[in-house]
Amino acid sequence: VRIAAIGDLHYTKESHGFASRVMQGVNENADVLLLAGDLTNMGRVEEVEVMIQDLQYIRVPILAVVGNHDHQSDQVEMLISMMRQGGICVLDCSSCEVGGVGFVGTKGFCGGFGRAQVAVFGEQALKSFVQESIMEAMRLEKTLQGLKTSQKVAVMHYSPIRETLVGETPDLFPFLGTSRLAEVLDRHGVNLVFHAHAHHGSPQGWTKGGIPVHNVARFVQMAHRERAYVIEEIPSG
Ligand SMILES: [Fe+2]
Ligand SMILES: [Fe+2]
Repeated sequence: VRIAAIGDLHYTKESHGFASRVMQGVNENADVLLLAGDLTNMGRVEEVEVMIQDLQYIRVPILAVVGNHDHQSDQVEMLISMMRQGGICVLDCSSCEVGGVGFVGTKGFCGGFGRAQVAVFGEQALKSFVQESIMEAMRLEKTLQGLKTSQKVAVMHYSPIRETLVGETPDLFPFLGTSRLAEVLDRHGVNLVFHAHAHHGSPQGWTKGGIPVHNVARFVQMAHRERAYVIEEIPSG
């Protein structure tokens, strides 16, 4: 199964035609397209409308997760239902099978990495922040528990590892992802991971358990590779 993956489209209402420019060749090169969040710039209905219209030419299944920008206008539920109506499978701690490969997806959240992870301690605001990160990891875990395919691919917006953030200022790392997600991915033997969000990060890294992780933020891919999206192949289940 050939997987095309891209994130951080940041659609505005002026973006008509953008998808076909950055995703040239997806129909020919891939069997499935993953969108790793920040699909819209401000989380507005008119932005997602343009994106859905632009994606009509894609003939392979499209699986997507939302990003923080898609939350900006507090209407993410509306955006998700519009995408679903438009034929996009939005993964919200849910899974989907294509060609015998299981795909799980979620937005993920912040929280930091390894020993520098922010702890659940002190003010209620800080506890809620970390709690959100723990909840996302738990929901991802539950989704993976339900997945019966031998090949598993995970897509998220925030990063599960530190390595693919290198290039961003380290001060920002705790806000770009959390290793709580990587612990879950390693425990469940996921084969391949895609994330976005870190526009100035690095294209590839690995979890402690050796799972390849691709930062498919289109800015990163355009800076390091010949095209805005990544193509990876995985054996059918
Ligand atoms: Fe972004
Ligand atoms: Fe983002």
